[in-house]
Amino acid sequence: MQDTVISFNNVSKKFKKGQRYYLKQALLDFFRPGVNDDFWALRNVSFKVQKGEAIGIIGANGSGKSTILKLIAGVLTPTKGNVVVNGRIGPLIELGAGFHPELSGRDNIYLNGTILGLPKKELERKFEDIVDFAELSDFIDTPVKHYSSGMQVRLGFSIATQINPEILIIDEVLSVGDASFQNKCLSLFGEFKKRGITIIIVSHQINLIEQFCQRLILVEKGKIEAMGNPRDVIPVYFSSVSQGQVKDLINKKGNVKRFGSGEVRIEKVEILDDSNKVVTTFETGKNYKIRFRFKKNKDIDILNIGIGVYKTTGEYCFGLNTQYDHFKVTSKNSFELLLKNIPLNAGEYYYNVVCFGQLETKPYDWVGPSGRFVVSSQFLQRGLTVVNHSWVNN
Ligand SMILES: Nc1ncnc2c1ncn2[C@@H]1O[C@H](COP(=O)(O)OP(=O)(O)OP(=O)(O)O)[C@@H](O)[C@H]1O
Ligand SMILES: [Mg+2]
Repeated sequence: MQDTVISFNNVSKKFKKGQRYYLKQALLDFFRPGVNDDFWALRNVSFKVQKGEAIGIIGANGSGKSTILKLIAGVLTPTKGNVVVNGRIGPLIELGAGFHPELSGRDNIYLNGTILGLPKKELERKFEDIVDFAELSDFIDTPVKHYSSGMQVRLGFSIATQINPEILIIDEVLSVGDASFQNKCLSLFGEFKKRGITIIIVSHQINLIEQFCQRLILVEKGKIEAMGNPRDVIPVYFSSVSQGQVKDLINKKGNVKRFGSGEVRIEKVEILDDSNKVVTTFETGKNYKIRFRFKKNKDIDILNIGIGVYKTTGEYCFGLNTQYDHFKVTSKNSFELLLKNIPLNAGEYYYNVVCFGQLETKPYDWVGPSGRFVVSSQFLQRGLTVVNHSWVNN
């Protein structure tokens, strides 16, 4: 297609893993012949970018996002496949990129401009704009090594945008700038969009990237996991990120903690949907019931049961117990908690369960994590919960 400005065709990129453990590696190579040090940072990545598109690349740390940008910028070459770029590409904007620390901001602007092939006259003409946009006029003769990371990013961003690139590539710099700089960048991006400049941006700030990009690419372990409308891709990202965290949680602290005096034991906790099917995946806004099965080992006067639900990232979402609700557990071995229109947002959760008499702090039985579940949501909202809301013009 004529308007395609970037095209990745089955691109794979191989790196050698760190060379620091020379002796260890040599021994490993000797004892495990055929096992080598190669590491595929990208595998069979294919996508196209059309002129004027704003594309966001998201994914966990180490998934391969910066590697994709460096391949676009031509800083790296693919091991397999090919990358085609049509259009004048701006310098990769990343933290601390391309500055000489001993030189002043002024000298770095001239140095960078020259490297980028800008004639001296044009650079002189643009100099004020670059300094103004970076808001660095008071520090322009200070060596860059004394700049804060935010100041360095502002300078890099300013140089890259003021030289009128056709394709702009930005690697996780928005988060370094303060709120006013972020807003300025966003309005500049809006202007670029109107002028048909293509922008590829990597960021962990999903809310910013979502405001600005019409298409997102989700990278996971060097492969494209999802690509398309942010509305479709962001939920996949959140659920994959939290799944990773659940694995960590289970692997690291894998063992379930359990303690209590033992008069009552929790036997089983199950979550059922409207049709009484046991589920581990919820949908925001639907109804569920939690069935507690327990066994009394002794005759007891009072029995209370409670559940605490947590995000796997650690946030406490809600806690309910029969004591707070003045609900008397009269059944012998099983009862249910009904949850209506569950308001949890997409993500992964776990729960702890406790049964106790008078005092929750002196439980008969406490189990955590007792189980886990995933929530998927069709609502596009941020935060722990999904809020029922509407907007009104006055
Ligand atoms: N020059 C290199 N030599 C060896 N390994 C590398 C090199 N560059 C990147 N890698 C590895 O390739 C993988 C992908 O790195 P990349 O920088 O693309 O990740 P990323 O998605 O940008 O992560 P982050 O969100 O942390 O910036 C990582 O495991 C990284 O260690
Ligand atoms: Mg990176």
